[in-house]
Amino acid sequence: MKGIILAAGAGSRLYPASLPISKILLPVYDKPMIYYPITTLLLAGIKDILIITSPSDIDNFKKVLGDGSNIGVKFSYAVQEVPRGIAESFLIAQDFINNEPVALILGDNIFHGFGFSSMLKEVGTRTTGATIFGYSVQDPERFGVVEFDKNGKAISIEEKPLQPKSNYAVTGLYFYDSNVVEYAKTLTPSARGELEITDLNKIYLKNNNLKVEILGRGFAWLDTGTFESLLQAANFVQSMEINTGMKIASIEEVACRMGYITPAQLKELSKKYKQNGYGKYLEKMANSI
Ligand code: DAU
Repeated sequence: MKGIILAAGAGSRLYPASLPISKILLPVYDKPMIYYPITTLLLAGIKDILIITSPSDIDNFKKVLGDGSNIGVKFSYAVQEVPRGIAESFLIAQDFINNEPVALILGDNIFHGFGFSSMLKEVGTRTTGATIFGYSVQDPERFGVVEFDKNGKAISIEEKPLQPKSNYAVTGLYFYDSNVVEYAKTLTPSARGELEITDLNKIYLKNNNLKVEILGRGFAWLDTGTFESLLQAANFVQSMEINTGMKIASIEEVACRMGYITPAQLKELSKKYKQNGYGKYLEKMANSI
């Protein structure tokens, strides 16, 4: 399975903080925001990842992440000239996808919770249909919203409905089979001028080929869209890391745990950050994995 991280938005809601650099490269506590979605894909067993950025940011992403070989994966890069919608990812990535199943994650989506790794591992093996993730929120009208029948089967999806039919937001993580590019080609821009990911999901729903996994109560799906929520996300990560002594979304650690690099390689990587707690943590993990 291939993976795509969409990181091309202007991030203007975080101006002036995100004026110098893409929002997706801003820190969430002790690491750039993009480490979090990268970790999600790595945990799903995905090693071949396309990062879609805006034209002005591509060099910064390359500088931060390189080609991925240091953590045993492959990063490649593409540009979205103008934010024409999340579903445009599949048109931009057509050659990269090369008729394989593919996962898409929005660069600003942070997931954390017990059991997520095993859920991702299983979802990452699905080769037919689509899988999306529902999460109960207080303000569903800000999101794609999925409605269920009494047996828990998804029956409708609407983008930012004025009157949401449930409290379940559709999160920014999507798994599709190899039909996705052909379906994306049939989409037309919505009233807000975007190729909507919700319209793509509706095609799978109509074909009776959409699974919705629920992320339950003990689960965190964090927003980073405003100054307040970005700080709250950082505080959440800090508090979890301090309480547990374990880091959330250390891509080097996860690559080692997934067997993409050896503990010896992890130890080598830790030297880059040997001056600080991040490096010491990687060294500790290298000695214990
Ligand atoms: O976060 C989940 C929600 O993401 C879903 O519930 C919605 O169904 C989905 O449409 C989307 O909601 P928004 O429309 O509010 O997403 P937003 O425009 O904030 O874009 C999400 C991220 O994707 C953001 O970091 C910018 C980036 N992006 C967005 C578009 C439209 C791009 O890189 N390119 C784009 O063309």
